[in-house]
Amino acid sequence: MATEIGKAGANPTKTFFVRMITRDITLEDCILDLIDNSVDGAWRSEGSRPVGLAQDADLSKYTIKITATPDGFCIEDNCGGMTLDDAADHAFSFGRKATDDTDDYSIGVYGIGMKRAVFKLGSKIVVRSTFKPDSEDRFGFAVPINVADWLKDDTPPWDFEIIEDDLLPSDGVKISVEDLTSGSALSFGSPAFMQNLRRTISRDYSLHLHRGLQIILNDTPIVGWQIEMLQGAEFAPMRIDYDDDVDGDKVFVELLGGMAAPPPDSSDPDVEDEGEKRFGWYVVCNGRIVLAADKTAISGWGTENWPQWHRQYSGFIGIILFTAANAAALPLTTTKRSVDTSSEVYRRARPKMREVTRSWIDYTNARKQALDDAKQREAQAAPVAIYSVPKSDVAVLPRIAAVPAEPVANVAYSVPLVRLKKLAKGFGRSGMTYRDVGLKSFEYSYKDIVGDE
Ligand SMILES: Nc1ncnc2c1ncn2[C@@H]1O[C@H](COP(=O)(O)OP(=O)(O)OP(=O)(O)O)[C@@H](O)[C@H]1O
Ligand SMILES: [Mg+2]
Repeated sequence: MATEIGKAGANPTKTFFVRMITRDITLEDCILDLIDNSVDGAWRSEGSRPVGLAQDADLSKYTIKITATPDGFCIEDNCGGMTLDDAADHAFSFGRKATDDTDDYSIGVYGIGMKRAVFKLGSKIVVRSTFKPDSEDRFGFAVPINVADWLKDDTPPWDFEIIEDDLLPSDGVKISVEDLTSGSALSFGSPAFMQNLRRTISRDYSLHLHRGLQIILNDTPIVGWQIEMLQGAEFAPMRIDYDDDVDGDKVFVELLGGMAAPPPDSSDPDVEDEGEKRFGWYVVCNGRIVLAADKTAISGWGTENWPQWHRQYSGFIGIILFTAANAAALPLTTTKRSVDTSSEVYRRARPKMREVTRSWIDYTNARKQALDDAKQREAQAAPVAIYSVPKSDVAVLPRIAAVPAEPVANVAYSVPLVRLKKLAKGFGRSGMTYRDVGLKSFEYSYKDIVGDE
């Protein structure tokens, strides 16, 4: 046996650690991480039930208030707070310990989100919490972090001081960050960043907002996006659910898919349409939308006999919800903004996702053969909130019989855009699609040269 002659030091430095954990996450995702923690707090206060579509938890007494300006950031909730034991034992550790409790239907899983977020935001941080210990008076404490001072000494143990603090108005957590990093200050001063953040929160927490949770950003409450499907006449979305299992941890899976809006008249990819951003696949983990309106290979497009996403498929929404007491069983990536496609539960769900996508692809192909008929039928379907969609093994879509068509010729040609726009204007509608300008000019010269039929 070889004789040991020394030890090669392998302890990380704090600077390395802080740089690594904040590197690959966006500022927006960090803010979502802090919201996730407040939502987990609210859910814990409500008794940590499953977070599927059918659970009717009332979150209307919980409020998350966010202030983000170039001068500072603050997030404050009344979701129950973290206890002194939480703070001392795990809340400020980098990574959850194997012994930490995981059975609470949380979205928190890794034990890194809060630390990563505050370091990304700035360098003068105060985490305050007020909570009510069992049969004792409410108690308040604070953990102030001055990043520059903390980074000076790498000697273990790494810890942060906990000090006694005034009570917050309600039991909850308040995190304030000053001395923002230049990236954060710049983003909070940008109206485009703030508008996007508002839109993302409205979409990704739509299930919580629907249950009454209030999220206020810079004094304006965020209105949740209402997810609806069209139903009635000959249309019904697919809605199924089943139990799965990951190494002994139960995962409840719910899947919905079908028509959320009629497909567009024109499938030209160059037609601008804001609404198209809503369509595609959504993946929800313990109540939080982690992947939205996906049109990529992550939800199957362009793989295993699925075509690539094409504008023709607009109108489709598919939603898959994974609910598990132990969040480690969910198909989440560490940034919680995508899906771990190698996860077994996700892979087992893929054939069912493909089934409903396929039926929509087939329908949009068939409807092209009898467009007017299809449009009439579509107009009779009405929006229904996803919570009220009845169970159905398949997405019901009308069978459209192709009208025997006379032989047609497809015309494709390119013209200078300026001239096309001038012509559209000449026809009296500058917003006309290129296709319509082409058709109208054909009709015009046909009438002029061939005459009326
Ligand atoms: N707003 C809050 N209310 C109550 N407890 C909180 C709050 N924010 C953080 N905590 C406590 O701090 C812990 C650490 O949070 P952190 O975001 O770092 O990790 P996590 O949520 O456990 O996992 P993940 O890294 O996946 O987010 C939480 O598990 C929770 O106990
Ligand atoms: Mg967290």
